[in-house]
Amino acid sequence: MGRQPHVLVLPFPGQGHIAPILKLALRIAAHGVKLTFVNTEFIHAKMMASLPEKSEERRLINFVSVPDGLDTEDDRRDLIKLTESVHRTMPAQIRDLIMKIEESNSDERISCVVADTSVGWAHEMAKNFGIEAVAFWTSAGACLALSLHIPLLLEAGVFDNNGTFIIDEPISLSKDLPSWTSSDFESDPEVQKLVFEFCLFVSKYAKFYDRIICNSNYELESVALQLIPNILPIGPLTISSNHSSSFTGILLPQDETCLHWLEKQPPSSVIYVAFGSTATLSLQQAEELALGLELSGQPFLWVVQSDSVARFPEGFVERVANRAKFVEWAPQEKVLAHPSVACFMSHCGWNSTLEGLGVPFLCLPYFADQFYNKKYICDVWKVGLELEEDENGIKTRHEISSKIKLLLSSDVIKANALHMKEACRKSWDEDGDSFSNLKKFIEHVKSL
Ligand code: UDX
Repeated sequence: MGRQPHVLVLPFPGQGHIAPILKLALRIAAHGVKLTFVNTEFIHAKMMASLPEKSEERRLINFVSVPDGLDTEDDRRDLIKLTESVHRTMPAQIRDLIMKIEESNSDERISCVVADTSVGWAHEMAKNFGIEAVAFWTSAGACLALSLHIPLLLEAGVFDNNGTFIIDEPISLSKDLPSWTSSDFESDPEVQKLVFEFCLFVSKYAKFYDRIICNSNYELESVALQLIPNILPIGPLTISSNHSSSFTGILLPQDETCLHWLEKQPPSSVIYVAFGSTATLSLQQAEELALGLELSGQPFLWVVQSDSVARFPEGFVERVANRAKFVEWAPQEKVLAHPSVACFMSHCGWNSTLEGLGVPFLCLPYFADQFYNKKYICDVWKVGLELEEDENGIKTRHEISSKIKLLLSSDVIKANALHMKEACRKSWDEDGDSFSNLKKFIEHVKSL
């Protein structure tokens, strides 16, 4: 008897990375492919706590874990520390895992590794073992296209070695794609360096990718996707289909009380405010946002730490008590699907961007790909507006409240948002692009 296909899935251990690759893994496993999903021990404990032992997800997938090399008390939101530790300690463990699976059973062999582009060494390792190496890219295809061009741009003197953008000209990869300008690159030099090193890392390991799966589709970004060799867009993975699980892959406890609160709000009235798992507002910006939301007169649901709420301007919480709800972590996908929600004030992380399709956006990007995602939202799909900064780099309360009014009164933006959502939903129909690409990929894996 021939060996069964067996896919090993390796995410990067961060919330924005785990949720989409897990959704992909569940879809692959639902088609009868054996699949092992490797978490770090830290993430594994959280994920297993959210998945009952007899759940469909645990039946479909073999979940295993390896240490991330950090101490229990270390802060895993420190991306620099986490990344360094993952690269230093995980390759040897993944190699051992692949060999252990191979040795444990003569019918068992990893035939394909699907790994996040943030752990590119896994693709090199897969090729050395003679295994199909598939990269998973969690952001927009446009940002992957840029990352793959970074070595050339470095050589051409567009960036210096620290990733600082040093020319006046915008970067254009295609005349039909918005270009990148200096404002698209984070001004905090340490973060910009990290993002830049990540792009170099991706381009360094790209030669090992047999193909790249991207959480996107041709409706969203046909121009960018055509610039990437071996690309297989399968997305948005957040849209459910016959072959998807209801588990969102979100590991923090979600405060469901906001769903009851939403029930009591008028249709299309609530501003949902959430900035993902890593972006944080400065104290001054948080204050302006609070006062801008107050000035707008609309009900709002804000994902914010309780210690930040305690630092809001005096009397603010009391004044807005009858139309505001604060939660530390929301069930975002359910919130965005609720008819009371009128718009999404977002940092424009790619997962949030995809989850928010159908709802008009107010954009407050923070770093990395978020500036470019904002261009898609505001300039290409025309499903949102950007909050502009004043001369001190602050989005003022007046800017916030007037943009909210403008956005809520725009029927064009609302119609565009619904159109985009429907186009993406269709990509998961039996004859849609994402569904066909998934099917193609599964057939390929089964043939390995
Ligand atoms: C990071 C980067 O910031 C982002 O730009 C990149 O594209 C992916 O990695 P993150 O900042 O966490 O991700 O943002 P995003 O990609 O939007 O992911 C956040 C996830 O957290 C979403 O899936 C969202 O549903 C979830 N979330 C957020 C909640 O479940 N509840 C919340 O209250 C807020």
